[in-house]
Amino acid sequence: MNEVIELKNLHVVFSKRVGLFRERRFHVLKDVDFFVQPGEIIAVVGESGCGKTTLGRIVTGLLKPTRGEVLFEGKPIYGFMNTDFAKFRRCVQFIQQDSYAALNPVRTIYQSLRAPLIRHNHKMKSDEIGNRIDELMGLVGLNPPEQFLVKYPHQLSGGQRQRVLMARALSLNPKLIVADEPVSMIDVSLRLSILNLMSELNQKLNIAFIYITHDLATAKYIANDQRIAVMYLGEIVEVGNINDILTNPRHPYTQALLSAVPIPDPVVAARQKEIPIKGMNLASIEKRTTGCSFFERCTYAHENCQYEPVPVVKNGKAAIRCHYEKEVPIWEKPR
Ligand SMILES: Nc1ncnc2c1ncn2[C@@H]1O[C@H](COP(=O)(O)OP(=O)(O)OP(=O)(O)O)[C@@H](O)[C@H]1O
Ligand SMILES: [Mg+2]
Repeated sequence: MNEVIELKNLHVVFSKRVGLFRERRFHVLKDVDFFVQPGEIIAVVGESGCGKTTLGRIVTGLLKPTRGEVLFEGKPIYGFMNTDFAKFRRCVQFIQQDSYAALNPVRTIYQSLRAPLIRHNHKMKSDEIGNRIDELMGLVGLNPPEQFLVKYPHQLSGGQRQRVLMARALSLNPKLIVADEPVSMIDVSLRLSILNLMSELNQKLNIAFIYITHDLATAKYIANDQRIAVMYLGEIVEVGNINDILTNPRHPYTQALLSAVPIPDPVVAARQKEIPIKGMNLASIEKRTTGCSFFERCTYAHENCQYEPVPVVKNGKAAIRCHYEKEVPIWEKPR
């Protein structure tokens, strides 16, 4: 079966004005290969500014890559005629990081949910629209619907707003939803219910999810036994089964990321080995070399890592981007 989405050798270059007449160009995504299969949940993790949202915008067609291909069900989306592109946009939905900014503040929830239904189904009658909206509200657990539909976004809690965004994304029967840090702005106690809702929708409706986050715990919860992609400065440095990667991280950056997760038990925490990185200086996406982006912070780096393009070593569905992958010692989290 075709992948829902596939990115091939994808590059995104942004530019920034420096001085009056000069611009500096910098690679935000570099040589990204990525795919999502029907019905799977894949977590994308990485530190702030590494390009996660940019990746989400590329996948949903909101941003055109500078170079490389975006395939939807095996066909390049930028070769689509208008109707096919509209179908692609219906099938791949984006849920933004900030639920407050994503909803129009002067529209009621009913109006916000009605807009995409009307835009994409001109023939839908008003009672059909009403029934569909009630059904969507039920699916995302906002019951009774009439209590929420008349409200404005500011009259809802963060968790309820996220559910409305989920309902809006579901309204067009998508095959894939890109959820960009959907729980980062809501209370810890409510996070689980949103994550459970996503799993439920995935199982009930077979919708694939790309779950973007910087939090490994929620990634593990939602992508349980499925895949994780670890990003560093616009590159996917390691991808594979989440249980394998969390128990046996291979890339030095993934190891550093895992060793930075706090351990609540002080006895176990005392057994924690030092973070295997050279420095804490945050590298910049604007100052990259032709080689490995993790070079400056990597304990295992050799001189050629800085300039030599890094090969991607593939092993089934897993892949790692490192020159000296075999030299990196096994790192284990203390138990
Ligand atoms: N339209 C744009 N023009 C120029 N630079 C941009 C643009 N959008 C994003 N960037 C830059 O691209 C880099 C990646 O941004 P992006 O929003 O994808 O990061 P992120 O991983 O989602 O971060 P966060 O975890 O903070 O949400 C950042 O350095 C950002 O400043
Ligand atoms: Mg982001």
